[in-house]
Amino acid sequence: MCKLNKVLMAVLAAMSFTTTYAQSSAAQTNEAAIQNIMTRTSVRKFKQQPVEDSKIETLLRAGMAAPTANDKQPWHFVVLKDQKSIERYAASNKYHAEDIKKTPLFIFVCADTTRMSEGQGRELWVQDCSAVSENILLAANALGLGACWTTIYPIQKKVGGISRTLKLPANLIPLNCIIIGYPDEALRPKNKWDENKITYGIAE
Ligand SMILES: Cc1cc2nc3c(=O)[nH]c(=O)nc-3n(C[C@H](O)[C@H](O)[C@H](O)COP(=O)(O)O)c2cc1C
Repeated sequence: MCKLNKVLMAVLAAMSFTTTYAQSSAAQTNEAAIQNIMTRTSVRKFKQQPVEDSKIETLLRAGMAAPTANDKQPWHFVVLKDQKSIERYAASNKYHAEDIKKTPLFIFVCADTTRMSEGQGRELWVQDCSAVSENILLAANALGLGACWTTIYPIQKKVGGISRTLKLPANLIPLNCIIIGYPDEALRPKNKWDENKITYGIAE
């Protein structure tokens, strides 16, 4: 009986340890996730260092983990990472060619018109692909990379120009181009907290 009690005590102690450890581990993970959100900032200058393929896949997986209206997942990504593609892209942009050449990775977040909701819900692709984009920006920060959202949609001149340069099929609309690489500038996350921009409850 005494021996059984000892075994029981040992099992209970192990269970308690496991629960405590699991809880504290989850707490740390959540804190790290919040820190990652708070430290994200736009980065536009990059080291001349390629981004590893495994990290590129993580960025894309993070993008595809985003919520979408009716779970339509109306996304498609165009990734430029090799020198030849980047130079072709740079050649198409007379104003930013030099900056483009110095950027190791581009992810164009596009919407697929064949996977959009009907009627008024069609425009939800903008929110869907924006959620995708934020996930990629946050994942980049978590991976020690820097990134910045650059505008394409709704500027029709840019939408047309990028669609031609990337030879996008007619069903894809480019929302933005996320530039990514290892940061070559000081990271200065902004404190945007402003209580004046919050209303709690409903005015009487
Ligand atoms: C919809 C959207 C469009 C943006 N377009 C550009 C852009 O075309 N070029 C650029 O350098 N940054 C662009 N940005 C990045 C913003 O300038 C940046 O997020 C803002 O200044 C706040 O800085 P932070 O990202 O460091 O917090 C864009 C961001 C968003 C969300």
